[in-house]
Amino acid sequence: MSENLKADAGRAALEWVHDGMKLGIGTGSTAEAFIDALAPKVAGGLQIVGVPTSERTRAHCEKLGVPLTTLEETPHLDLTIDGADEIDPALNLIKGGGGALLREKVVAAASDAMVVIADDSKLVEALGAFPLPIEVNAFGLAATRIAIEEVAMQHQLSGDLELRKGEGSEPYLTDGGHLIIDASFSRILEPEALSVNLNSIPGVVEHGLFTGLATRAIVAGQGGVKVIESSK
Ligand code: A5P
Repeated sequence: MSENLKADAGRAALEWVHDGMKLGIGTGSTAEAFIDALAPKVAGGLQIVGVPTSERTRAHCEKLGVPLTTLEETPHLDLTIDGADEIDPALNLIKGGGGALLREKVVAAASDAMVVIADDSKLVEALGAFPLPIEVNAFGLAATRIAIEEVAMQHQLSGDLELRKGEGSEPYLTDGGHLIIDASFSRILEPEALSVNLNSIPGVVEHGLFTGLATRAIVAGQGGVKVIESSK
């Protein structure tokens, strides 16, 4: 069922894709539904070029013939289209469930606009029920974990900080070769301040709080697709 809704959101996003655009292309099952909808348009003559936010997305685009570039060649993008793990009413997001948060944030920040696509299960009143992915350098992991706990305490947050597992018992490694700590904070009431403070920890590479980046959300539910505009 939610696969159909993801496909609805992915198709609806095409309305914001125009000839000649340079696109950031997100990661995850909803982003892949968008790529699936985009590919036939490209085959039919739509001229776009995309920067993939992960090796997984690169492979999916290459398989379907969606032309790709890099931020080195094309450092400024018109629009990024990406999924999310949670979306709050101000269009703050938690992302990184698929592990691609660093490239996703770099690509979104290099774009004039970011459209988030999702099924309506991703809408929340407050972020945090989905564990916040925090990408960290392997060096000094124990010290970084303590620093994250201290920042959490400043925000009256607590909860498990779990090192994400990959294949077998090995830690999960991001495309950039870093680790991910999934932080079960439950309810994040100050996402912008928490974002700044987490990024002040030297061992933190990036985290999955996206504040002030999404300009629009396309949300598919049983009743149809609705568009939520950022008030900023
Ligand atoms: C990838 O790292 C994530 O940020 C995804 O965008 C997010 O997890 C949404 O994924 P789904 O579309 O598969 O739910």
